[in-house]
Amino acid sequence: MITDLFGRPLRDLRISVTDRCNFRCPYCMPAEIFGEAYEFLPKDEILTFEEIARLAGLFVTAGVNKLRITGGEPLLRVDLPKLISQLSEIPGADDITLTTNGYLLAQQASQLAEAGLHRITVSLDSLDDAVFKQMNGRGFGTRRVLDGINRAAAAGLSPVKINAVVQKGVNDHTIVDLARHFKGSGHIVRFIEYMDVGNRNGWKLDQVVSAAEIVGMIDAELPMEPAEPNYVGEVANRWRYRDGEGEIGVIASVTQPFCANCTRARLSTDGKIYTCLFATDGVDLRGPMRDGADDEELAGIIAGMWKVRRDRYSEERTANTATRDNARPKVEMYHIGG
Ligand code: GTP
Ligand code: 5AD
Ligand code: SF4
Ligand code: SF4
Repeated sequence: MITDLFGRPLRDLRISVTDRCNFRCPYCMPAEIFGEAYEFLPKDEILTFEEIARLAGLFVTAGVNKLRITGGEPLLRVDLPKLISQLSEIPGADDITLTTNGYLLAQQASQLAEAGLHRITVSLDSLDDAVFKQMNGRGFGTRRVLDGINRAAAAGLSPVKINAVVQKGVNDHTIVDLARHFKGSGHIVRFIEYMDVGNRNGWKLDQVVSAAEIVGMIDAELPMEPAEPNYVGEVANRWRYRDGEGEIGVIASVTQPFCANCTRARLSTDGKIYTCLFATDGVDLRGPMRDGADDEELAGIIAGMWKVRRDRYSEERTANTATRDNARPKVEMYHIGG
Protein backbone atom coordinates (compact mmCIF):
# COMPACT_ATOMS: atom_id res chain seq x y z
CA MET A 1 0.00 0.00 0.00
CA ILE A 2 1.36 3.44 -0.87
CA THR A 3 0.57 6.49 1.20
CA ASP A 4 1.07 10.20 0.58
CA LEU A 5 2.87 12.73 2.76
CA PHE A 6 -0.12 12.89 5.13
CA GLY A 7 -0.44 9.10 5.38
CA ARG A 8 -3.45 8.90 3.06
CA PRO A 9 -3.69 5.72 0.96
CA LEU A 10 -4.69 5.65 -2.70
CA ARG A 11 -8.15 4.05 -2.84
CA ASP A 12 -10.31 5.67 -5.53
CA LEU A 13 -9.65 6.43 -9.14
CA ARG A 14 -11.94 8.77 -11.05
CA ILE A 15 -11.56 8.30 -14.79
CA SER A 16 -12.67 10.98 -17.24
CA VAL A 17 -13.53 9.39 -20.60
CA THR A 18 -14.40 12.53 -22.57
CA ASP A 19 -14.04 16.29 -22.16
CA ARG A 20 -17.24 16.89 -24.14
CA CYS A 21 -20.67 17.48 -22.69
CA ASN A 22 -24.19 17.89 -24.04
CA PHE A 23 -25.00 20.35 -21.22
CA ARG A 24 -23.58 23.82 -20.65
CA CYS A 25 -24.02 24.25 -16.90
CA PRO A 26 -22.90 27.84 -16.27
CA TYR A 27 -20.88 26.72 -13.22
CA CYS A 28 -18.86 24.25 -15.28
CA MET A 29 -18.91 24.88 -19.06
CA PRO A 30 -20.46 28.31 -19.59
CA ALA A 31 -21.98 28.45 -23.10
CA GLU A 32 -20.30 31.77 -23.89
CA ILE A 33 -16.89 30.08 -23.54
CA PHE A 34 -17.73 26.57 -24.74
CA GLY A 35 -19.50 27.56 -27.96
CA GLU A 36 -19.62 25.92 -31.40
CA ALA A 37 -16.03 26.93 -32.12
CA TYR A 38 -14.57 25.58 -28.90
CA GLU A 39 -11.91 22.96 -29.60
CA PHE A 40 -12.22 19.87 -27.50
CA LEU A 41 -9.46 17.26 -27.44
CA PRO A 42 -8.69 15.61 -30.78
CA LYS A 43 -9.19 11.85 -30.88
CA ASP A 44 -5.52 10.92 -30.84
CA GLU A 45 -5.00 12.74 -27.56
CA ILE A 46 -7.76 10.78 -25.82
CA LEU A 47 -6.85 7.55 -24.06
CA THR A 48 -8.20 4.44 -25.76
CA PHE A 49 -10.20 1.89 -23.75
CA GLU A 50 -7.20 -0.43 -23.73
CA GLU A 51 -5.00 2.34 -22.34
CA ILE A 52 -7.56 3.24 -19.68
CA ALA A 53 -8.01 -0.39 -18.64
CA ARG A 54 -4.27 -0.92 -18.46
CA LEU A 55 -3.77 2.13 -16.23
CA ALA A 56 -6.79 1.25 -14.10
CA GLY A 57 -5.27 -2.18 -13.52
CA LEU A 58 -2.04 -0.59 -12.33
CA PHE A 59 -3.97 1.71 -9.99
CA VAL A 60 -5.83 -1.28 -8.54
CA THR A 61 -2.50 -2.99 -7.91
CA ALA A 62 -1.40 0.20 -6.12
CA GLY A 63 -4.40 -0.01 -3.75
CA VAL A 64 -7.43 1.37 -5.59
CA ASN A 65 -10.67 -0.59 -5.18
CA LYS A 66 -13.20 1.94 -6.46
CA LEU A 67 -13.39 3.20 -10.03
CA ARG A 68 -15.68 6.04 -11.03
CA ILE A 69 -16.22 6.94 -14.69
CA THR A 70 -16.77 10.64 -15.31
CA GLY A 71 -16.45 13.20 -18.10
CA GLY A 72 -17.46 15.80 -19.34
CA GLU A 73 -20.47 13.63 -19.94
CA PRO A 74 -19.29 9.99 -20.03
CA LEU A 75 -22.32 8.64 -21.91
CA LEU A 76 -21.17 10.60 -24.97
CA ARG A 77 -18.16 8.29 -25.30
CA VAL A 78 -18.93 5.77 -28.04
CA ASP A 79 -19.17 2.12 -26.90
CA LEU A 80 -18.75 2.96 -23.22
CA PRO A 81 -20.14 -0.46 -22.12
CA LYS A 82 -17.06 -2.02 -23.72
CA LEU A 83 -14.85 -0.08 -21.34
CA ILE A 84 -17.03 -1.05 -18.39
CA SER A 85 -16.67 -4.72 -19.23
CA GLN A 86 -12.89 -4.36 -19.54
CA LEU A 87 -12.76 -2.66 -16.14
CA SER A 88 -15.02 -5.24 -14.54
CA GLU A 89 -12.49 -7.93 -15.42
CA ILE A 90 -9.82 -6.32 -13.22
CA PRO A 91 -9.55 -8.40 -10.02
CA GLY A 92 -9.87 -6.04 -7.06
CA ALA A 93 -11.99 -3.41 -8.84
CA ASP A 94 -14.79 -3.99 -6.32
CA ASP A 95 -16.89 -0.89 -6.93
CA ILE A 96 -17.38 0.40 -10.48
CA THR A 97 -19.62 3.38 -10.80
CA LEU A 98 -20.32 6.36 -13.04
CA THR A 99 -21.43 9.99 -12.72
CA THR A 100 -23.68 11.26 -15.54
CA ASN A 101 -26.04 14.14 -16.26
CA GLY A 102 -28.61 11.47 -17.12
CA TYR A 103 -29.73 12.86 -20.46
CA LEU A 104 -28.68 9.76 -22.42
CA LEU A 105 -29.14 7.32 -19.56
CA ALA A 106 -32.55 5.80 -20.34
CA GLN A 107 -31.28 4.26 -23.57
CA GLN A 108 -27.98 3.03 -22.07
CA ALA A 109 -28.83 1.92 -18.52
CA SER A 110 -29.41 -1.77 -19.15
CA GLN A 111 -26.35 -2.17 -21.41
CA LEU A 112 -24.18 -0.51 -18.77
CA ALA A 113 -25.52 -2.79 -16.06
CA GLU A 114 -25.01 -5.87 -18.24
CA ALA A 115 -21.43 -4.79 -18.92
CA GLY A 116 -20.70 -4.84 -15.18
CA LEU A 117 -21.42 -1.34 -13.89
CA HIS A 118 -22.44 -1.65 -10.23
CA ARG A 119 -24.23 1.62 -9.55
CA ILE A 120 -24.70 5.15 -10.84
CA THR A 121 -24.87 8.80 -9.77
CA VAL A 122 -27.05 11.20 -11.75
CA SER A 123 -26.66 14.98 -11.53
CA LEU A 124 -29.99 16.79 -11.20
CA ASP A 125 -29.87 20.26 -9.70
CA SER A 126 -33.60 20.92 -9.55
CA LEU A 127 -36.97 19.38 -10.43
CA ASP A 128 -38.32 22.76 -11.40
CA ASP A 129 -38.13 22.81 -15.20
CA ALA A 130 -37.43 26.53 -15.44
CA VAL A 131 -34.60 26.33 -12.90
CA PHE A 132 -33.20 23.16 -14.45
CA LYS A 133 -33.26 24.65 -17.94
CA GLN A 134 -31.21 27.57 -16.72
CA MET A 135 -28.78 25.36 -14.79
CA ASN A 136 -28.02 23.04 -17.70
CA GLY A 137 -27.50 25.96 -20.05
CA ARG A 138 -29.30 24.15 -22.88
CA GLY A 139 -32.93 24.61 -22.01
CA PHE A 140 -33.46 20.88 -21.42
CA GLY A 141 -36.34 19.86 -19.16
CA THR A 142 -36.12 17.25 -16.39
CA ARG A 143 -38.18 14.49 -18.00
CA ARG A 144 -35.39 12.62 -19.78
CA VAL A 145 -33.21 12.71 -16.70
CA LEU A 146 -36.04 11.36 -14.54
CA ASP A 147 -36.64 8.59 -17.10
CA GLY A 148 -32.94 7.80 -16.97
CA ILE A 149 -33.03 7.52 -13.18
CA ASN A 150 -35.99 5.12 -13.36
CA ARG A 151 -34.37 2.98 -16.03
CA ALA A 152 -31.11 2.84 -14.08
CA ALA A 153 -32.91 1.67 -10.95
CA ALA A 154 -34.84 -0.92 -12.97
CA ALA A 155 -31.56 -2.18 -14.42
CA GLY A 156 -30.22 -2.70 -10.88
CA LEU A 157 -27.75 0.21 -10.82
CA SER A 158 -28.73 0.95 -7.25
CA PRO A 159 -28.72 2.69 -4.93
CA VAL A 160 -29.04 5.48 -7.49
CA LYS A 161 -27.53 8.68 -6.13
CA ILE A 162 -28.71 12.07 -7.31
CA ASN A 163 -26.25 14.98 -7.09
CA ALA A 164 -27.56 18.53 -6.80
CA VAL A 165 -25.19 21.48 -6.69
CA VAL A 166 -26.81 24.21 -4.62
CA GLN A 167 -26.30 27.85 -5.65
CA LYS A 168 -27.73 30.68 -3.63
CA GLY A 169 -30.49 32.50 -5.44
CA VAL A 170 -30.47 29.98 -8.29
CA ASN A 171 -31.92 26.69 -6.98
CA ASP A 172 -31.86 26.86 -3.20
CA HIS A 173 -35.61 27.48 -3.14
CA THR A 174 -36.17 24.10 -4.82
CA ILE A 175 -34.07 21.78 -2.63
CA VAL A 176 -36.84 20.70 -0.26
CA ASP A 177 -38.96 19.66 -3.27
CA LEU A 178 -36.08 17.60 -4.62
CA ALA A 179 -35.62 15.87 -1.27
CA ARG A 180 -39.37 15.25 -0.95
CA HIS A 181 -39.68 13.85 -4.47
CA PHE A 182 -37.12 11.11 -3.86
CA LYS A 183 -37.97 10.42 -0.21
CA GLY A 184 -39.08 6.81 0.05
CA SER A 185 -37.84 5.95 -3.46
CA GLY A 186 -34.65 4.19 -2.36
CA HIS A 187 -32.59 6.78 -4.27
CA ILE A 188 -30.22 9.03 -2.31
CA VAL A 189 -30.16 12.75 -3.09
CA ARG A 190 -26.87 14.47 -2.25
CA PHE A 191 -26.71 18.23 -2.02
CA ILE A 192 -23.31 19.67 -2.91
CA GLU A 193 -21.99 23.01 -1.71
CA TYR A 194 -21.06 25.08 -4.72
CA MET A 195 -17.26 24.97 -5.12
CA ASP A 196 -14.60 27.14 -6.73
CA VAL A 197 -13.55 24.45 -9.21
CA GLY A 198 -11.60 25.69 -12.22
CA ASN A 199 -11.22 29.36 -13.15
CA ARG A 200 -14.23 30.03 -15.30
CA ASN A 201 -17.32 30.04 -13.15
CA GLY A 202 -16.64 33.28 -11.27
CA TRP A 203 -17.23 31.56 -7.92
CA LYS A 204 -17.87 33.75 -4.89
CA LEU A 205 -18.29 32.60 -1.32
CA ASP A 206 -21.62 34.39 -1.02
CA GLN A 207 -23.06 32.05 -3.70
CA VAL A 208 -22.55 29.08 -1.39
CA VAL A 209 -25.44 27.72 0.65
CA SER A 210 -23.81 25.90 3.57
CA ALA A 211 -24.51 22.30 4.46
CA ALA A 212 -25.91 23.51 7.77
CA GLU A 213 -28.40 25.75 5.95
CA ILE A 214 -29.33 22.95 3.55
CA VAL A 215 -29.94 20.50 6.38
CA GLY A 216 -31.90 23.15 8.29
CA MET A 217 -34.24 23.80 5.36
CA ILE A 218 -34.96 20.13 4.73
CA ASP A 219 -35.18 19.13 8.40
CA ALA A 220 -37.78 21.85 9.04
CA GLU A 221 -40.19 20.07 6.68
CA LEU A 222 -38.93 16.49 6.59
CA PRO A 223 -37.41 15.70 10.00
CA MET A 224 -33.98 14.04 9.85
CA GLU A 225 -31.22 12.77 12.13
CA PRO A 226 -27.50 12.25 11.39
CA ALA A 227 -26.37 8.79 10.26
CA GLU A 228 -22.92 7.19 10.54
CA PRO A 229 -20.63 7.23 7.48
CA ASN A 230 -20.65 4.05 5.38
CA TYR A 231 -16.85 4.08 5.21
CA VAL A 232 -13.92 6.21 6.35
CA GLY A 233 -13.47 9.15 4.04
CA GLU A 234 -17.01 9.14 2.65
CA VAL A 235 -17.48 12.48 0.92
CA ALA A 236 -21.13 12.99 1.84
CA ASN A 237 -22.42 13.44 5.39
CA ARG A 238 -25.47 11.21 5.73
CA TRP A 239 -28.83 12.27 7.19
CA ARG A 240 -31.69 9.81 7.55
CA TYR A 241 -35.39 10.64 7.69
CA ARG A 242 -36.82 10.04 11.14
CA ASP A 243 -39.80 8.22 9.64
CA GLY A 244 -37.50 5.59 8.10
CA GLU A 245 -38.12 6.67 4.49
CA GLY A 246 -34.48 6.75 3.41
CA GLU A 247 -31.64 9.23 3.61
CA ILE A 248 -29.96 12.20 1.96
CA GLY A 249 -26.30 13.25 1.81
CA VAL A 250 -24.70 16.66 2.07
CA ILE A 251 -21.29 17.32 0.55
CA ALA A 252 -19.79 20.18 2.52
CA SER A 253 -16.51 20.64 0.72
CA VAL A 254 -16.48 24.39 1.42
CA THR A 255 -17.67 24.63 5.04
CA GLN A 256 -16.44 21.23 6.32
CA PRO A 257 -13.62 20.09 4.06
CA PHE A 258 -12.67 16.43 4.04
CA CYS A 259 -9.10 16.53 2.72
CA ALA A 260 -7.76 14.65 5.76
CA ASN A 261 -9.32 11.43 4.43
CA CYS A 262 -9.04 12.13 0.71
CA THR A 263 -7.90 8.99 -1.08
CA ARG A 264 -8.85 10.06 -4.63
CA ALA A 265 -6.76 10.33 -7.78
CA ARG A 266 -8.20 11.62 -11.05
CA LEU A 267 -7.22 10.49 -14.53
CA SER A 268 -8.01 13.05 -17.23
CA THR A 269 -9.25 12.22 -20.72
CA ASP A 270 -5.78 12.86 -22.12
CA GLY A 271 -4.02 10.62 -19.64
CA LYS A 272 -2.77 12.94 -16.92
CA ILE A 273 -3.11 12.05 -13.30
CA TYR A 274 -4.25 14.73 -10.85
CA THR A 275 -3.92 14.35 -7.09
CA CYS A 276 -6.54 17.00 -6.26
CA LEU A 277 -9.74 18.38 -7.78
CA PHE A 278 -8.12 21.81 -7.50
CA ALA A 279 -4.70 20.90 -8.87
CA THR A 280 -2.99 23.15 -11.38
CA ASP A 281 -1.45 20.38 -13.40
CA GLY A 282 -1.20 16.63 -13.60
CA VAL A 283 1.47 14.02 -14.19
CA ASP A 284 1.46 12.65 -17.72
CA LEU A 285 1.01 8.89 -18.09
CA ARG A 286 0.00 8.83 -21.75
CA GLY A 287 3.38 9.99 -23.04
CA PRO A 288 5.44 7.31 -21.28
CA MET A 289 2.80 4.66 -22.05
CA ARG A 290 2.82 5.46 -25.78
CA ASP A 291 6.62 5.60 -25.73
CA GLY A 292 6.61 1.97 -24.66
CA ALA A 293 6.96 2.10 -20.87
CA ASP A 294 6.35 -1.29 -19.27
CA ASP A 295 3.99 -1.87 -16.34
CA GLU A 296 6.76 -1.55 -13.80
CA GLU A 297 7.80 1.87 -15.09
CA LEU A 298 4.21 3.13 -15.15
CA ALA A 299 3.58 1.77 -11.64
CA GLY A 300 6.72 3.63 -10.57
CA ILE A 301 5.35 6.92 -11.92
CA ILE A 302 2.04 6.34 -10.13
CA ALA A 303 3.71 5.50 -6.81
CA GLY A 304 6.12 8.41 -7.20
CA MET A 305 3.35 10.95 -7.76
CA TRP A 306 1.31 9.65 -4.79
CA LYS A 307 4.22 9.53 -2.36
CA VAL A 308 4.88 13.27 -2.72
CA ARG A 309 1.23 14.28 -2.58
CA ARG A 310 0.46 17.04 -0.11
CA ASP A 311 -2.84 18.44 -1.50
CA ARG A 312 -5.42 19.78 0.95
CA TYR A 313 -6.90 22.61 -1.07
CA SER A 314 -10.33 22.74 0.54
CA GLU A 315 -8.87 22.95 4.03
CA GLU A 316 -6.52 25.73 2.96
CA ARG A 317 -9.32 27.57 1.20
CA THR A 318 -11.43 27.54 4.33
CA ALA A 319 -8.50 28.70 6.44
CA ASN A 320 -7.86 31.60 4.05
CA THR A 321 -11.38 32.48 3.04
CA ALA A 322 -10.96 36.16 3.78
CA THR A 323 -7.78 36.59 1.76
CA ARG A 324 -8.40 33.76 -0.66
CA ASP A 325 -6.37 33.99 -3.80
CA ASN A 326 -8.46 32.63 -6.64
CA ALA A 327 -5.86 33.55 -9.22
CA ARG A 328 -3.88 30.30 -9.21
CA PRO A 329 -4.78 28.35 -12.37
CA LYS A 330 -6.77 25.19 -11.62
CA VAL A 331 -7.80 22.28 -13.77
CA GLU A 332 -11.35 22.64 -15.12
CA MET A 333 -14.10 20.32 -13.87
CA TYR A 334 -14.90 18.93 -17.32
CA HIS A 335 -11.32 17.64 -17.64
CA ILE A 336 -11.50 15.50 -14.53
CA GLY A 337 -15.20 15.05 -13.89
CA GLY A 338 -15.53 16.38 -10.37
P1 GTP B 1 -19.99 7.51 -3.42
O1 GTP B 1 -19.00 6.59 -4.03
O2 GTP B 1 -21.36 7.14 -3.81
O3 GTP B 1 -19.81 7.73 -1.96
O4 GTP B 1 -19.79 8.89 -4.15
P2 GTP B 1 -18.60 9.90 -4.29
O5 GTP B 1 -18.84 10.91 -3.25
O6 GTP B 1 -17.29 9.25 -4.38
O7 GTP B 1 -18.81 10.43 -5.75
P3 GTP B 1 -19.45 11.62 -6.47
O8 GTP B 1 -18.76 11.73 -7.73
O9 GTP B 1 -20.90 11.45 -6.61
O10 GTP B 1 -19.08 12.88 -5.56
C1 GTP B 1 -19.99 13.86 -5.43
C2 GTP B 1 -19.39 15.20 -5.61
O11 GTP B 1 -18.62 15.54 -4.47
C3 GTP B 1 -18.41 15.35 -6.75
O12 GTP B 1 -19.01 15.50 -7.94
C4 GTP B 1 -17.70 16.60 -6.34
O13 GTP B 1 -18.51 17.71 -6.61
C5 GTP B 1 -17.59 16.37 -4.84
N1 GTP B 1 -16.33 15.71 -4.56
C6 GTP B 1 -16.04 14.39 -4.75
N2 GTP B 1 -14.79 14.14 -4.43
C7 GTP B 1 -14.27 15.31 -4.01
C8 GTP B 1 -12.99 15.69 -3.54
O14 GTP B 1 -12.06 14.89 -3.46
N3 GTP B 1 -12.81 16.97 -3.20
C9 GTP B 1 -13.79 17.87 -3.27
N4 GTP B 1 -13.52 19.09 -2.86
N5 GTP B 1 -15.02 17.56 -3.74
C10 GTP B 1 -15.25 16.31 -4.09
N1 5AD C 1 -19.30 22.90 -7.36
C1 5AD C 1 -19.90 21.78 -6.91
N2 5AD C 1 -20.24 20.74 -7.68
C2 5AD C 1 -20.00 20.86 -8.99
N3 5AD C 1 -20.24 20.02 -10.00
C3 5AD C 1 -19.78 20.60 -11.14
N4 5AD C 1 -19.25 21.81 -10.89
C4 5AD C 1 -19.39 22.00 -9.55
C5 5AD C 1 -19.03 23.06 -8.67
N5 5AD C 1 -18.45 24.16 -9.10
C6 5AD C 1 -20.90 18.73 -9.85
C7 5AD C 1 -21.79 18.35 -11.00
C8 5AD C 1 -21.86 16.87 -10.86
C9 5AD C 1 -20.55 16.51 -10.26
C10 5AD C 1 -19.68 15.76 -11.21
O1 5AD C 1 -19.95 17.70 -9.85
O2 5AD C 1 -23.06 18.90 -10.92
O3 5AD C 1 -22.90 16.44 -10.02
FE1 SF4 D 1 -21.63 18.78 -18.28
FE2 SF4 D 1 -21.55 17.91 -15.75
FE3 SF4 D 1 -20.19 20.11 -16.49
FE4 SF4 D 1 -22.84 20.20 -16.41
S1 SF4 D 1 -21.46 19.85 -14.64
S2 SF4 D 1 -21.55 21.00 -18.06
S3 SF4 D 1 -23.40 18.15 -17.05
S4 SF4 D 1 -19.82 18.03 -17.21
FE1 SF4 E 1 -9.05 15.84 -1.93
FE2 SF4 E 1 -8.20 18.10 -3.01
FE3 SF4 E 1 -10.80 17.69 -2.55
FE4 SF4 E 1 -9.12 18.09 -0.50
S1 SF4 E 1 -9.64 19.55 -2.09
S2 SF4 E 1 -10.74 16.55 -0.64
S3 SF4 E 1 -7.30 17.03 -1.29
S4 SF4 E 1 -9.51 16.54 -3.97
